[in-house]
Amino acid sequence: MKEQIIQLLAGQLPSLTEAEISELIEIPPNPEMGDYAFPCFRLAKTLRKAPPMIAQELHDSITVPDFVEEIRVVGAYLNFFIKKDVFAKTMLSAVREEGFGSSKEGDGHTICIDYSSPNVAKNFHVGHLRTTIIGNSLYKIYSKLGYHVERINHLGDWGTQFGKLIVAYKKWGSEESVKEKGIEELMRLYVLFHQEADKDPALEDEARFWFAEMERGNEEALKIWQWFVEISLEEFKRTYRLLGMEFDHYMGESFYRDKTEDVVSRLSAAGLLTESEGAKIVDLEAYDMAPCLILKNDGSSIYATRDLAAIFYRKENYNFDKCLYVTGQEQRLHFQQVFKVVELLGNEWAKDGLVHIPYGLVSLGGEKLSSRDGNVIYAEDILLEAISKIRTIIEEKNPELEDKDTVARHIGVGAVIFNDLYNQRIKDVSFRWEHLLNFDGETGPYVQYTYARCSSILRKVEGYDSKADVDISFLTDEASLGLLKELSRFPAVVKEAANRYEPSVVARFSIAVAQAFNHYYTVNRINVEDPAERNARVLLVDITRRVLRDAVELLGITCVEQM
Ligand code: ARG
Repeated sequence: MKEQIIQLLAGQLPSLTEAEISELIEIPPNPEMGDYAFPCFRLAKTLRKAPPMIAQELHDSITVPDFVEEIRVVGAYLNFFIKKDVFAKTMLSAVREEGFGSSKEGDGHTICIDYSSPNVAKNFHVGHLRTTIIGNSLYKIYSKLGYHVERINHLGDWGTQFGKLIVAYKKWGSEESVKEKGIEELMRLYVLFHQEADKDPALEDEARFWFAEMERGNEEALKIWQWFVEISLEEFKRTYRLLGMEFDHYMGESFYRDKTEDVVSRLSAAGLLTESEGAKIVDLEAYDMAPCLILKNDGSSIYATRDLAAIFYRKENYNFDKCLYVTGQEQRLHFQQVFKVVELLGNEWAKDGLVHIPYGLVSLGGEKLSSRDGNVIYAEDILLEAISKIRTIIEEKNPELEDKDTVARHIGVGAVIFNDLYNQRIKDVSFRWEHLLNFDGETGPYVQYTYARCSSILRKVEGYDSKADVDISFLTDEASLGLLKELSRFPAVVKEAANRYEPSVVARFSIAVAQAFNHYYTVNRINVEDPAERNARVLLVDITRRVLRDAVELLGITCVEQM
């Protein structure tokens, strides 16, 4: 219908292209202002007339087409009121389609997403929880649009810190305590190393020696390191299992350790490497950036070197259109530098092919989150606590519910995910149990509750036929139209979320749908006597249920049928 309105306006406005008209057309926030609105401000300059006058003249010259009830001038706007039955029918036939919301725009294109990527021997903390949740949602969103996605976990599993850990382990650790306490013990050893090294700087040399040994392939060193990696991965995977998330590749920094030499030779062949105090760098002064360090003065590679190697590896092996990096904003400069270096090597694709996707901090807002030793907060503990709190609520409110543990897991984990994705990713996330577990705020549990309500209606109703023809006059009231309008935004919402790398667009959409549904449900009886009316009303419940499920699925949340 928007298309037809564009055509109508295009006939009167030779100075604007159809695309420009399309961009100008708005959907008024309130149905009393019509279904579509065309603002005339932009035309004032070319037409040398006041915007309200332009609106009036347009109004007078357009013949009202069949599907339009009325065209009204309101100030500088031309407001289009679509005939309710035509509007409802058009929207209904769109939202009813199989696969509504998905598209094929990504067919034949690949997106790499580098996300989560926790550091071995360090805890999986709330910051990593954010990249995991955002990255996973982007994976779902791009897949929905038909892209092929490679989910890459770029584990922090290489670097001088492992030299320190080996020293600390050999001096003060034991196999039993590492086996027993896992990452917690590795973190203790790491802290201890720094305390001791303050007193005895020779320890630092020892640590450098052991990392150099690792890079040289020393078996003893690599064996210990490998063991630390396995222990850490086991813990990380526990968190991924709770979240219900997976990766296509666990390719950590160590994977690129034999590929950094190639980076160095490319850079030096291109004349980009310069010496600075014994280290090798790429000077980026011309781009107002600090230099990108490539090799330290002892010749060892660093984080950036391995990132460069990873980019070439991925380009070669996955031929990505885009490679996205989801990390905290403190890594902004790092990625700017690395991407610039790739570009300087003559790779035009680096310009829009490499994208850093930063996000804000998690503020705990004075809340008490359970933590293992006073200040270190594990993502796993947050998830477990959310699940257990929901489990308690279920026990109070619906003790008869089947499979309470699964339900509590999906709702608890879903609440944490939703809380993370509801606001623009760059904003800080605040973490308040009483907010995020609330069943009637802008929360995961609220959307899940609405979904379960839809399911329950469908379970109870008799003789419903999802394929039957619909008497549209049952769906032209304000609440039904409002709900249909929300639902029909889904495909555009998914595209916008992908274009802006912004899952919050989907999260907000799911709340808008849930609210429109709850309004529909309050003002309309669903299970009415008349079979035709009942079928029409239930159909809308059925479609809402599907769209809600598909939308939160894009966030990484699994709906439950009963709660
Ligand atoms: N391990 C890093 C961290 O915890 C994140 C890695 C992000 N990915 C990358 N290719 N640099 O901060």
